[in-house]
Amino acid sequence: MTAGRLPWIAQDPASLRLLELAEKVAAAPATLLITGESGTGKDHLARLVHELGPRRDAPFLKIDCASLPPQLVESELFGHERGAFTGAVERKLGRFELGGNGSIVLDEVAALSPGAQGKLLRVLQERAFERLGGTETLRIEARLIALTNVDLPAAVKAGSFREDLYFRLNVLMLTVPPLRERRADILPLADHLMAALRSAHGRPNAQLSDAARRMLAAYSWPGNVRELRNALERAVVFSRPGTGAVAANGGLLEPADFPETVRAAAPGAVSPVGGLRSLEEVEREVIAATLEATHYQISRSAEALGISRKTLLEKRKKYGLK
Ligand SMILES: Nc1ncnc2c1ncn2[C@@H]1O[C@H](COP(=O)(O)OP(=O)(O)O)[C@@H](O)[C@H]1O
Ligand SMILES: [Mg+2]
Repeated sequence: MTAGRLPWIAQDPASLRLLELAEKVAAAPATLLITGESGTGKDHLARLVHELGPRRDAPFLKIDCASLPPQLVESELFGHERGAFTGAVERKLGRFELGGNGSIVLDEVAALSPGAQGKLLRVLQERAFERLGGTETLRIEARLIALTNVDLPAAVKAGSFREDLYFRLNVLMLTVPPLRERRADILPLADHLMAALRSAHGRPNAQLSDAARRMLAAYSWPGNVRELRNALERAVVFSRPGTGAVAANGGLLEPADFPETVRAAAPGAVSPVGGLRSLEEVEREVIAATLEATHYQISRSAEALGISRKTLLEKRKKYGLK
């Protein structure tokens, strides 16, 4: 599904619901808090909210509160006057000023220092701030979108995050569910990501085999969409034509091209996590995999499976395999 200019892949009811909520909050000017595990798509959703709303033509600015030292975070947000601190050789405008009528994303908001939390609280309460070292009071017009993978109520309890700031940020909240809780999204996301990877890596024929698709759909993806993207990229890069299996099958990515952690979840891999399965299911999968591995040669497949050609053909028909 495409919303605005940004593709938001959503097939699972859970992410379709999220998309509906995103459309609603996009129209509002209120501060938005987006929570979710790492790699679920919080940045992506923030951008979507921006593009779905009336601010889409205004700036979309992001600041990563976790990767910058505290003083730099403040200077990036509020800007500074010349001489505000050592190294501040000239006036610099901060995101709150540069953001205009647009959206400002505070990524990893739980990482803000106590000082920055206090200043941000004032911005949210009064919509006003000063540049570091400055006296002129400026107004903020931009919408703030805060992202976090931290359990903020727990951080409040632990004393590392201000409760009053939490309430100010949590006016509207969206939670991006982990990928394992919206499994219907896995393969549509994989197809979407593959399209980009094919062109990025000049591998127009790279394709997921049926066995690889079954494996991706069965895995739990603790690193969510980012882990899926990385696994696909690795498979595309390491299965360059001219090497082994891929040269023979013209670009099909097989389970063997994926990291061991993902492969362990492949249907047929011995794992209690996979749940209980009937003998018929297992048989179907083994036959499908064997046919695929032999490039659909009946005699070779029958031999590998230790059954007659006739039995194989009957089973192939029974299970609707190609
Ligand atoms: N619904 C989606 N549709 C398309 N791409 C997505 C979707 N969700 C996440 N992605 C992609 O997955 C990767 C991780 O998403 P990101 O927003 O950076 O996660 P987070 O900020 O939660 O760690 C990015 O490359 C992003 O573009
Ligand atoms: Mg992120």
